[in-house]
Amino acid sequence: MSETLLVISGGVEAIPGIQRAKDMGLHVVVVDGSLAAPGLALADDQIIASTYDVEGVIAAAKRYAQSRPIDGVIAMAADVPRTVSGVAEALGLPGLSRETADLASDKLLMKERLAEEGVAVPWFAAVASVDDVRSAVSERGYPLVMKPVDSRGARGVLRLTEGVDLDWAYGHSVSQSPSGRVMVEEFVPGPQVSTESVVLDSWATTPGFIDRNYEHLERYSPWMIENGGQQPSRLAPEDARAVKDTAVAAARALGIVGWTAKGDIVLGPDGPVVIEMAARLSGGWMSSDQIPLGTGVDFLGAAASLALGRDVDRADLEPRQQRGVAIRYFFPEPGRVTAVGDIERLKRELGVYRIGLAVGVGDSVDTPTDHTKRAGFVMAIGRDSAEAVDRAERVVESIGIETAPA
Ligand SMILES: Nc1ncnc2c1ncn2[C@@H]1O[C@H](COP(=O)(O)OP(=O)(O)OP(=O)(O)O)[C@@H](O)[C@H]1O
Ligand SMILES: [Mg+2]
Repeated sequence: MSETLLVISGGVEAIPGIQRAKDMGLHVVVVDGSLAAPGLALADDQIIASTYDVEGVIAAAKRYAQSRPIDGVIAMAADVPRTVSGVAEALGLPGLSRETADLASDKLLMKERLAEEGVAVPWFAAVASVDDVRSAVSERGYPLVMKPVDSRGARGVLRLTEGVDLDWAYGHSVSQSPSGRVMVEEFVPGPQVSTESVVLDSWATTPGFIDRNYEHLERYSPWMIENGGQQPSRLAPEDARAVKDTAVAAARALGIVGWTAKGDIVLGPDGPVVIEMAARLSGGWMSSDQIPLGTGVDFLGAAASLALGRDVDRADLEPRQQRGVAIRYFFPEPGRVTAVGDIERLKRELGVYRIGLAVGVGDSVDTPTDHTKRAGFVMAIGRDSAEAVDRAERVVESIGIETAPA
């Protein structure tokens, strides 16, 4: 009987991972709370449960395991480390501890642990009132970043500068935190990198290494809106080495070992600083598409192997090539969508790998306030990063999402 992998999330970005697991000959069980989740259709078996409902998913997995043993559990394109570690613990599967999942789910606990372990993080403080925010401003000066300790997708993440209404900002950030808790950090200037590593006891490697593009920092201020990213990185080899070393040290400090680790790192004036280290696979098509297209590394296959407790070969995770891959997002003017260009034609343009459109005629588009409000994206490939960026930007210019003031 083939081994069985429980995949948490059947969302659209999980499809490549579900497909990869099936191609590995695995029996794939997909968990999702929405019957419409497209990944469910690819699954050998389905469990309908909210991916955030830790106890609910554990109970459903135990019931399933009575008829067919489960050999591994993994999340694909979903930020649910507590669900994954809960199932792993309950069924005795490979995985991270509940403590690590908790550290990865709370940005304040995470920064405290990283600081204790000597990993560079921005100056940070919990804030329980707008007076605390004012104290932080007078102590540290601008710019600062305020964020919910337990949200995602940059919801409620604000760059505080002169002129931002602190009462409003605090209230907004609190409203985006499930537990109503927020923190402030020093804003670290410098190039931002997304990293994705495999971290084992005896070795670690970071085949995922993508420069993030924050050209809209001023345009959408105080919101911190990313506009895609590209690889190979423009960082000098010694800087890239330092960023990778910091990412791996952060993963180890949080107990992310025997698993994959996804980092947001800034190369600040004094060296790499950790903004976040997640105990899961990346979303945003990074682990599923950008890493394999750019480097030839089968990152999802390695992650699935780790989840099953199989050995992974370090040589398989070393980049075989450095091809240009770029993502850019669509930022139409806010309003009601009146027209969308010829997407099918754009998809056939040279180097265009994937276009995802999240809006159609009649939908309303707001000013982007977090990464879940994107109107869509294009991913393009090229010989190098400049060519890939150029091809992606050409699609952005001709995407033709027209809006009229609502
Ligand atoms: N202190 C900081 N200095 C510089 N940039 C920051 C800082 N904090 C956050 N950012 C930028 O804003 C992004 C979003 O912040 P953060 O990761 O804390 O929130 P999130 O909700 O987890 O968002 P995402 O899901 O996009 O990672 C970061 O990935 C980073 O690019
Ligand atoms: Mg983050």
